[in-house]
Amino acid sequence: MKIRPLTPDLLAKAGSLVHHAFAPSRYELRLFDRLHEKNRPLHEWVCLHRQAVIACICFSRAFHGKKVCGLHLALLAVQPRQQGQGIGSELLRFALRQAAIATQPIYVLGDPAYFHKFGFVPCAAPICPLVRGNKHFLGLRNSIIEPITIGYEPEFYR
Ligand SMILES: CC(C)(COP(=O)(O)OP(=O)(O)OC[C@H]1O[C@@H](n2cnc3c(N)ncnc32)[C@H](O)[C@@H]1OP(=O)(O)O)[C@@H](O)C(=O)NCCC(=O)NCCS
Repeated sequence: MKIRPLTPDLLAKAGSLVHHAFAPSRYELRLFDRLHEKNRPLHEWVCLHRQAVIACICFSRAFHGKKVCGLHLALLAVQPRQQGQGIGSELLRFALRQAAIATQPIYVLGDPAYFHKFGFVPCAAPICPLVRGNKHFLGLRNSIIEPITIGYEPEFYR
């Protein structure tokens, strides 16, 4: 298995993976496609096995007002047949070591039981506008303690 930055030639395969990993939800594929259509600044890597994209991770900008204040772990997906084999953990650990990610506050909406292993902890602040009561809103290196609303790229808002 190789980990590579997501390049345009792998985009269709990565989109197909996102579709299958999150089915029947269509929100994540729409988000993934729209973030690329709008050329938003993203940090993305994929796991390749032979010619297939078997996992994908994508970080997008987090905002405090108009200022960038960190990154959102926007998507983490593993091909359903290959889940539970450590691939998601390996890709996430790899991404968290990369220079563009390693010093930034990172936020994710995700299962606390899964993300706790990587250092993410529940955040009371900032406020995530995508869920009620910050349910499953987690942070790594978060230093914001005021109840400001954290911003996402416009494509996140349904
Ligand atoms: C969540 C996901 C990325 C994890 O990747 P993975 O390769 O299957 O996970 P790993 O093999 O690295 O880790 C397996 C461990 O995580 C746990 N786990 C896997 N998915 C989990 C989830 N959604 N919630 C909580 N725990 C989870 C497993 O029980 C296992 O625990 P153990 O190590 O104590 O036995 C993958 O299952 C997936 O693509 N799910 C669908 C999309 C999704 O929900 N993405 C996350 C939100 S962005």
